[in-house]
Amino acid sequence: MRTPFEQIFEGNQAWITDKLEKDPDYFEKLSKGQHPEFLYIGCSDSRVTAEDLMGAEPGEIFIHRNIANLVIPTDNNINAVIQYAVEYLKVKHIIVCGHYECGGVKAALQPSDMGQLNSWLQTLRDVYRIHRAELESISDDKKRFDRLVELNVQEQCINIIKIDHVQKMWYKTGFPTIHGWVFNVRNGKLIDLKLNMLEVFGEIRSIYDLKPTV
Ligand code: CO
Repeated sequence: MRTPFEQIFEGNQAWITDKLEKDPDYFEKLSKGQHPEFLYIGCSDSRVTAEDLMGAEPGEIFIHRNIANLVIPTDNNINAVIQYAVEYLKVKHIIVCGHYECGGVKAALQPSDMGQLNSWLQTLRDVYRIHRAELESISDDKKRFDRLVELNVQEQCINIIKIDHVQKMWYKTGFPTIHGWVFNVRNGKLIDLKLNMLEVFGEIRSIYDLKPTV
């Protein structure tokens, strides 16, 4: 019997065969470089597979995933990803994609000591605090959970517009556009929250405008 580990390598071989059957030069083309138009920031959740759920091909989307799709200003990892995507890849769109039934968001709704995860989840608890009145006006637990998923996406989009590299590129080119999405794990659909981040930037500009040198 094959182990799950062996199945992964067999799956890889099947994937290679499939790609080469469609295009014998597939990997030669792939090795030439990447020019993705999208940076996708999503949750590490194993059910939320970025390319798969968008029907995207390798080379099309630059991806960063972490628990509950957070954009934390002191996270060196995401800062590097965003700077590289904006300055070097010159992506036209940055997407923050949350998902319903997110374990990270759920944990933030149930205060408890989770050790190493405490500081990470603190950002989610802050989102709850900022939107406490709205969230606590929702009596249905499931709907409140769903709404926190959406508000978390919104707050992480706001965290992106606070970043100097993003503002710099906005002043220079008008890009990237920032989008907030939610993946509905219950039916597979992507939902565009239709956030207008330029409008939001206008509202909070007097606080966060860094006027970076262009
Ligand atoms: Co999640």
